[in-house]
Amino acid sequence: MTYHVLIPDNVHPAALEVLREAQGITFDAPGKLSRADLLEQVKQAHALIIRSGVRVDAEVFEAAPRLKCVARAGVGVDNVDLEEATRRGVIVMNTPGGNTTATVEYTLALMLALARHIPQAHASLEAGRWDRKAFMGTELRGKTLGIVGFGRIGSGVARRARAFEMRVVAYDPFCDGRMTARAAEIGVEMTDLETLFADSDFISLHAALTESSRGMINRQSLARMKKGVRIINAARGALIVEDDLAEAIREGHVAGAALDVYSEEPPPTDHPLIGLPGVIHTPHLAASTAEAQVAVAVEAARLIVNALLQGETRNVVNPDVLSGEF
Ligand code: MLT
Repeated sequence: MTYHVLIPDNVHPAALEVLREAQGITFDAPGKLSRADLLEQVKQAHALIIRSGVRVDAEVFEAAPRLKCVARAGVGVDNVDLEEATRRGVIVMNTPGGNTTATVEYTLALMLALARHIPQAHASLEAGRWDRKAFMGTELRGKTLGIVGFGRIGSGVARRARAFEMRVVAYDPFCDGRMTARAAEIGVEMTDLETLFADSDFISLHAALTESSRGMINRQSLARMKKGVRIINAARGALIVEDDLAEAIREGHVAGAALDVYSEEPPPTDHPLIGLPGVIHTPHLAASTAEAQVAVAVEAARLIVNALLQGETRNVVNPDVLSGEF
């Protein structure tokens, strides 16, 4: 039996080497496909390797009668309809380790850039000005950082923030004994969301996008935050109700935000936060390091090869599917 793998997105070519070396695997890696081309090419596919830019929903599953597994070269699987995958017996796997460092370091970069207005100062100097008064910053040392979501990335951010002598508090709905021990080892206080909102000078989001986390930063939660809070989001845009955050910034309740992700990507030109003073933005770059992209591509390809050829699965994000027949 020969299995066919489709890569309908720009996944690092290191993935192709892994597939090439596997006996009994053919593949197509056309780069980012239009929706119409995806629906056409997925007909032949036994497996998909994707990033966050490809939506794998009921229509895609319907068009892919041979599909057995999907590997996400990255962490978030909010672009995959997991219920539909499970219903159709398709195994979905992700690569949670590969881009942790990249995202952790990027979050720190965003926090520092936000605190010291680095992008705005850069733009000002490039525009021919020498303005040393307009960009008065704030220090991280002694400030409280609230981390929402204390998994690999959240705890990595906490560890670095402690080196900056910040007080770090964290909230995670899945906090267990192991997480509490990890927090204690790093010097982080686990707390409830209300206390985190009330205490934090900086809040950094590291939660997965689910129906319960969607829109968690909204008019009501913003009102419970400290005046002058700064918000960093390199997780998923839809964790924030963007209009509500824009209003809180305009009113001066929130001092600024650093955003790498948006509820719609790319964001529309009239996005409420883009261009607002105090807000800095980048186009979903947190995982974009050479190291991370090679790591997630290779791991995703290995997951697919092992699943198709050996029936071995790892990092399955819809584990209920395993009770059926692969
Ligand atoms: C992830 O979920 O791994 C990141 O957002 C990176 C990406 O999708 O490109």
